[in-house]
Amino acid sequence: MYRNGRLVCDGVGLEALAKAHGTPLYVYSAEQIRYRAGLFAEAFRIPHTVCFSVKANSALGVLKVVAEAGAGFDIVSGGELERVLRVDRRAARRVVFSGVGKQAAEMDAALKAGILIFNVESEQETELLAERAAKARKRARFALRVNPDVFAGTHPYISTGLREHKFGVAIEDARKVYRRAARSKWLDAAGVSVHIGSQIRSVDPFGAALARVAKLVGELRKDGHDIRYVDAGGGLGIDYGAAGAEFDAAAKVRAYATVVEKALSGMGVHLLIEPGRFIVAQAGALMARVLYVKRNGAKTFVVTDAAMNDLIRPSLYQAHHEIVAVKKAAGKTAKVDVVGPICESGDFLARDRAMRVPKPGELLAVLDAGAYGMTLSSNYNTRGRAAEILVEGRKARVIRKRETVGELMAGESV
Ligand code: LLP
Repeated sequence: MYRNGRLVCDGVGLEALAKAHGTPLYVYSAEQIRYRAGLFAEAFRIPHTVCFSVKANSALGVLKVVAEAGAGFDIVSGGELERVLRVDRRAARRVVFSGVGKQAAEMDAALKAGILIFNVESEQETELLAERAAKARKRARFALRVNPDVFAGTHPYISTGLREHKFGVAIEDARKVYRRAARSKWLDAAGVSVHIGSQIRSVDPFGAALARVAKLVGELRKDGHDIRYVDAGGGLGIDYGAAGAEFDAAAKVRAYATVVEKALSGMGVHLLIEPGRFIVAQAGALMARVLYVKRNGAKTFVVTDAAMNDLIRPSLYQAHHEIVAVKKAAGKTAKVDVVGPICESGDFLARDRAMRVPKPGELLAVLDAGAYGMTLSSNYNTRGRAAEILVEGRKARVIRKRETVGELMAGESV
């Protein structure tokens, strides 16, 4: 949002933040995160728990806001579990553990913490879980992640619900896996889980997937399993194009809730959902300063101090992120590539983007960067990772310091 021609995040001006903390800089709005988490919490009438997908944004400061909003968490590693426990030990009761390659030590830690449920993805995994649960003398609740063979219409890298993907177990094979798992007294077949992909714009695929899950729940109950939970996964998409403003997030979540509840109506299950992107993407921006503006042949390149190591989504998924000037100004518009300093032609934040050609020294904001921005960042080209700021009303707080080159080399020896 602009105030007097200058971009602000809630009560804080972005120019001042960049001056104080340098760039590249991630800035998040606590208020927006709370608002988005609240939309999910309010949209459902059936009993439910919102489990924020930690991989979307795992900054402790962000997780704290989510935990305080009453949400739980979807984790995929022992590392993410530690983050959640660091933020709020009691939130463990609201943790679902997803992922296709869980290891024994990670299961042990999750059993010890007393998480809500394991989303297991193969028969072998149920066997290992039974073994670890027996060792811990704790019964493990699990949900088998089934693959409903539904096409989600999203980018191939983030589509997961087809038979050809590595995730889950084909839905036709599920009953067999539950039957075998029931032999272990250390396993409690408590739920069924599904996740068909990410950045899914239409709500219809969710309805289709959950209709298949509902049918399976009926069959499993007939088989004698006490299924109480359905985990619908995450994946609800946002609008990256419209500079955020016109996107009606509340209506989108309501539409999503409607199809989910319709598919599960009358089943008496406790619904788990694992939204990540929808809660944090539009609550965050990446700030960058323009270093140079150069022309090569017919092309104009705006070289900024932020690069693909800070935000890889444009390079990896051809994702579109709006890029705006922090201070509005007049000037001529042209098609430009916004690129970083990394030595790869694939290092860009935008390609052939029509925008006012900025001047060296100007500040830009890459919008909707709160999800899968910092969490997918790297140290490529020995670049320290950006600092992160959390804005709470009129206050701004550093929730992660900028990484120094010394820290990058700390674990190395010659
Ligand atoms: N649950 C499971 C089991 C998942 O695999 C994911 C995301 C989520 C929940 C959260 O999905 P969301 O609500 O955020 O769509 N790096 C990619 C996205 C990868 C998504 C991986 N799984 C991107 O930047 O678009």
